[in-house]
Amino acid sequence: MKILITGGAGYIGSHTCVALMEQGYSLVILDNFSNSKPAVLDKLRKLNDNFVFYNVDVTNEEALERVFSNHKIDGVIHFAGYKAVGESVAKPLNYYINNVGSTMILAKVCQKYNVNKFVFSSSATVYGENKVPFKEEMELLPTTNPYGETKAMSERILMDVAKANPNFAVSILRYFNPVGAHESGLIGEDPNGIPNNLMPYITKVAKGELEKLRVFGNDYPTPDGTGIRDYIHVMDLAEGHVAAYKHLRKGVHIYNLGTGKGTSVLELVHAFEKANGIKVPYEIVERRPGDIAICYADASKAERELGWKAKRDIIDMCRDAWRFENLT
Ligand code: NAD
Ligand code: UD1
Repeated sequence: MKILITGGAGYIGSHTCVALMEQGYSLVILDNFSNSKPAVLDKLRKLNDNFVFYNVDVTNEEALERVFSNHKIDGVIHFAGYKAVGESVAKPLNYYINNVGSTMILAKVCQKYNVNKFVFSSSATVYGENKVPFKEEMELLPTTNPYGETKAMSERILMDVAKANPNFAVSILRYFNPVGAHESGLIGEDPNGIPNNLMPYITKVAKGELEKLRVFGNDYPTPDGTGIRDYIHVMDLAEGHVAAYKHLRKGVHIYNLGTGKGTSVLELVHAFEKANGIKVPYEIVERRPGDIAICYADASKAERELGWKAKRDIIDMCRDAWRFENLT
């Protein structure tokens, strides 16, 4: 009985692999390294080696079938996909083909091999400009970019598959803003080039690799004027997947994985400085196009139904992100 993890060499996937192996699960990890490096697997092995790995593109049906015929797969967790919002605007077809395509092909192969447990990585971006806190039952608002559309479409596709196959058990997890790293400092978020996201940018500034943080706007309707997000420690998120997998049941069940607490850009900068005793120079610049003012979860459904709740706070997130940055 093994769990198949697509995108398991990536940021959230690798942390979830650790959390699952700690619970005794044996894993079959797939990745094509389009946004990760093989070295991650060596680091994973130091933490736990209860996995096999295949360099497979999840949109390749034949290659997937070979994996499914070689292993008795109990269920899948589908992380593989592209995630850069700006790039999705410039290269929409790459996003539709990879993100929607991989979900369809994986679901198809699952049907053929009678694998009925499926956990899917979705995003809070599907809520668009709904009113906070975001709740699972809200109507999804069109997102302003193809990346968000690929998540909303993948969700709908899985719902249709579940309607056609009443044995299909799907958990759709809508992540808020994952940050931080495994406590060992061995694995973490390691984006190529200049980071787009706030925490990896802060750690590069703290290290002196980038001169200063640009804070995108201080005229939002928030207490200090900067954007508010629901940052969640990646190990809490990883443990949320373990809980979701254990609680899989027939039909489609949607869960927000967030902390339910909002933190502004400046609050995060100051928390980082406090946690690590290091200054983060910044300047205020124009708003970033496409950003919303406030985003945080109502995380009560996951607590009620999965018995899962984020435990780590902003200081833990800043400390662990910094430890990883210094060990890489
Ligand atoms: P990541 O880029 O670090 O990991 C994704 C992994 O999938 C990478 O290792 C990449 O090489 C692999 N991959 C991509 N396409 C593939 C394919 N066709 N076949 C095989 N492997 C493929 O990203 P992440 O932050 O770990 O995100 C994981 C999932 O969670 C993604 O689906 C992402 O859209 C979603 N998500 C991420 C965030 C976030 O802030 N990081 C937020 C919401 C949702
Ligand atoms: C981005 C994506 C979103 C994705 C999420 C999680 C966009 C528009 N949205 O969201 O789809 O699900 O990442 O990975 O890209 N900020 C700065 N300076 C920086 C970087 C960010 O001030 O250099 C601010 C942003 O304006 C925002 C906050 O920090 O208020 C968080 O930004 P970021 O980490 O990019 O995440 P999101 O914008 O929430």
